[in-house]
Amino acid sequence: MKRPIIAGNWKMNYTQAKTKELIKEIAPLVADAQCEVVVCVPYTNIEVARKAIRGTKIKLGAQNVHWANSGAFTAEISAEMLKELKVEYVIVGHSERRQYFGETDETVNARAKAALEYSLKPIICVGETLEEREAGKTAEVVIRQINAAFQDVDKTSLKRIVVAYEPVWAIGTGRTATAQDANDTIAVIRKALRKLYGKTAARALRIQYGGSMNPKNATELMAQPEIDGGLIGGASLKAEDFAKVVNY
Ligand code: PGA
Repeated sequence: MKRPIIAGNWKMNYTQAKTKELIKEIAPLVADAQCEVVVCVPYTNIEVARKAIRGTKIKLGAQNVHWANSGAFTAEISAEMLKELKVEYVIVGHSERRQYFGETDETVNARAKAALEYSLKPIICVGETLEEREAGKTAEVVIRQINAAFQDVDKTSLKRIVVAYEPVWAIGTGRTATAQDANDTIAVIRKALRKLYGKTAARALRIQYGGSMNPKNATELMAQPEIDGGLIGGASLKAEDFAKVVNY
């Protein structure tokens, strides 16, 4: 049985003090969680978060990683640096990176491979924009993103990878894909992975849904057969809401 994975994506929120406080609040509320629980915090809060999660169920994640190991890449952070801080998961290719920071299918692939090289576990994000959805291109877009993101990623790495399906129009908007729609698109993603890696590996890989997932819709989304977890933005910023999603 696959263990579901619920990850909070804090985005650019909270100071170190607040990070410590929020993790202390979340920890007892998720102590009996059946799923894996991750918080992806801003780089500056990683060290504080690492200490705060000690002895809890919560695992540590970052929100991006550069493809190079070192060099003239102002403001970027390498996989080796994250590894040193005991980061376990790292989000790659989030739609906000694609939309506002020029992230492409190629850079997503390069970042994912760098993460894997340092034994980090990438959470690879894919998803269509509203325009693409309305043009009936959802399947085409997610298949293209998956094929690109997994270029030269070998099958043995697959167990350390999580995919997040996040329809861009559902992120931070309060609009959720219907559970059925989310399930159907994740099935398309899994089929693309099956073509690349075969049935067993594709079935074992965990695929999250993300986009306005919250305590109200988590149960229904998580009940879908293709959905193995959630990537939670807004609702991960409050302990009670996040815990409710985790304990869906
Ligand atoms: P949201 O964000 O839950 O606030 O929609 C999800 C995400 O961007 O990962």
